[in-house]
Amino acid sequence: MAETREPGINRRMAADLEALRERNQFRELASPPGIQLSSNDYLGLSSHPGLKDAIARALEEDDRVSSTGSRLLSGNSERWEQLEQRFAEFVGTEAALYFPSGYAANIGLLSSILKDGDTVFSDSANHASLIDGIRLSRANRVIFPHADLGYLEESLRRTRGKGEKIIVVESVFSMDGDRAPLRELITLCERHGATLIVDEAHAIGVEGLGGRGLVHAIREGDHVLATVHTCGKALASMGAFVAGSRTLRDYLINHARTFIFTTALPPYCAAQIQEALSLSITADADRDHLCELSRHLRKRLKEAEFETPRSNSQIIPLILGSNDAAVRFAAAMNAAGFAVRAIRPPSVPAGTSRLRLSLHSKLSFADMDAFTEALVAVRESEVVPE
Ligand SMILES: Cc1ncc(COP(=O)(O)O)c(C=O)c1O
Repeated sequence: MAETREPGINRRMAADLEALRERNQFRELASPPGIQLSSNDYLGLSSHPGLKDAIARALEEDDRVSSTGSRLLSGNSERWEQLEQRFAEFVGTEAALYFPSGYAANIGLLSSILKDGDTVFSDSANHASLIDGIRLSRANRVIFPHADLGYLEESLRRTRGKGEKIIVVESVFSMDGDRAPLRELITLCERHGATLIVDEAHAIGVEGLGGRGLVHAIREGDHVLATVHTCGKALASMGAFVAGSRTLRDYLINHARTFIFTTALPPYCAAQIQEALSLSITADADRDHLCELSRHLRKRLKEAEFETPRSNSQIIPLILGSNDAAVRFAAAMNAAGFAVRAIRPPSVPAGTSRLRLSLHSKLSFADMDAFTEALVAVRESEVVPE
């Protein structure tokens, strides 16, 4: 009887996973119970009855629960087109195009508009979807150290040739919780003939007038080529809009492969997003509370001598350094009743493993105090000799 041998590729995968385990970098799906401090449901809309009602109403009105095809085939619907127009008006652009996820939006946008001979300047802290979109293009790449405008300007100055120069940043950085210096970036664009793409994933619904994000207030001239707004975070829905000119929208419909070659989301999802947008516009009290909560927690953590560099948003990284420390702290905080997760490479640079705290408006100041106290207790228990 022939000996059954495990295929080589399985052995390779197993060895890889073992190496991840040894480095304490193995990821597992889990849903720790307790006070939620790691979700992106910044306005707490995910359980809002208005959203459930909007879906139920749409399902009653629509004759189908599936889109049945891509937007360019049978999957288009008035709900999506109206929502795109409404979203464009909301953020102050001519047009917007919806993608089934933020990941798909960034990949589709960057891989289609960047061409051979262009140079893209990407902040080193950018999200994986931005990195991957750039990697799929043939543009030259300059990865500038996080928020280092001096380095960026020098690179812009040195870059000559006919190609376009495009700077890519997040308006609120997903892992460090700080804001991009958008005005300064626009000045650099003016000086060096560049254009800007801004991912507003963590700003939409949270920052700016009525939650319009951070670019809305400064979108003058034509230096901002596109903004990307995910709906799965503060808007408690799914997918993402790319907002910009009508030309950009038409271009993406014709060239963005993650738009063309994928089934559209069902029309009732558009009704959910539409309702989430209305709810978020009037959520000023929640935004104010979230801002106060974040300030309070940062202050408490600083008093307790924890490192939370740069953060000035609802995302507060608690840098612990090694994978081991991040995993240990996360487990101990889970046991203390707080739903936090350890964030390790490749999500963040090696040596900066952390707990990424992301707050939401349903939390209280007492929750923030209790979290800090528990954290201090965990740190104290760590230094007690075994
Ligand atoms: C900055 C940023 N851009 C894009 C995405 C991807 O969005 P989505 O989860 O909708 O794919 C995320 C998060 O997941 C993000 O943090």
